[in-house]
Amino acid sequence: LSAFVAPAEAQTYPTRSITMIVPFAAGGPTDVISRIVTGHMAQTLGQSIIIENVVGAGGTTATTRAARAANDGYTLITGHMGTHAASVPLYPKLAYHPERDFEPIALLAGTPILILARKDFPPKDLKEFVAYVKANAEKVNAAHAGVGSVSHVSCELLHSILDIKPVGVPFNGTGPAMNALVAGQVDYMCDQIVNAVPQVNAGTIKAYAIATPERNPSLPNVPTTAEAGLPKFQAQAWNAMFAPKGTSPAILASLNAAASKALDDETVKKRLLELGSVIPGPAERTPEALATLVKNEIAKWTPVLKPAT
Ligand code: MLT
Repeated sequence: LSAFVAPAEAQTYPTRSITMIVPFAAGGPTDVISRIVTGHMAQTLGQSIIIENVVGAGGTTATTRAARAANDGYTLITGHMGTHAASVPLYPKLAYHPERDFEPIALLAGTPILILARKDFPPKDLKEFVAYVKANAEKVNAAHAGVGSVSHVSCELLHSILDIKPVGVPFNGTGPAMNALVAGQVDYMCDQIVNAVPQVNAGTIKAYAIATPERNPSLPNVPTTAEAGLPKFQAQAWNAMFAPKGTSPAILASLNAAASKALDDETVKKRLLELGSVIPGPAERTPEALATLVKNEIAKWTPVLKPAT
């Protein structure tokens, strides 16, 4: 394969459907955000975008596949803070490097993290939760989407602040992990807001706090971690679109423009905001801004996660 698609081909791109790899199970945050944004991008690009959920190893199985895919613009991936940053310190034998093996396309959404629990988990607020998990660290368990996933890394951060090491229960995504939480099969989870809003509003799970400086309009009654007594726990993830390294600049520009147009669409915006996402402004949507974010996030998470491995 040549490193670049010929300019003539880039001008007509795309001539067939595009595959968007989602590195977690259907119904979870990455899947939901991808479907909302690519649904609109497909209209702009005049071709369908097929979501392919490829699960395993905290999203790194799918991300390896995407890194090795043809760089012709027809296989892309929605990655996130886990697959494209936290995986670096957590997987010493990672088969890809987020910076060297991918072309950044666009940041799609910021996603605040919440501390959630099954409905009948005994603590009634965050202070009680902290006391309870510290007293019962041997008994409680935390669901997550695999080592290096956002939910895993976020609860690792929480656990390091609380100085506890509860059992983790891995799933192929927080879509299935959320089902287990709703069913009362696991105790708690540190999850991205898009997965939490429908369940918290339906009263099927508890939300102790949101780990951002401000409350989120989609869950106005959920206190911030600072308000609830744990100001040190601050966590917000992000989801973004990438192409394999060497994808032509013209194709990347066309994908970036389509993603940005989607984020300006009223229906897309409404849906993302209803689910609590933070929509990136124009300056944050450029490939250059995403490259900087990935670099900074790897630098941020490496010292936090290395000692744990
Ligand atoms: C994660 O914890 O990384 C995500 O919630 C994964 C997912 O989209 O299911």
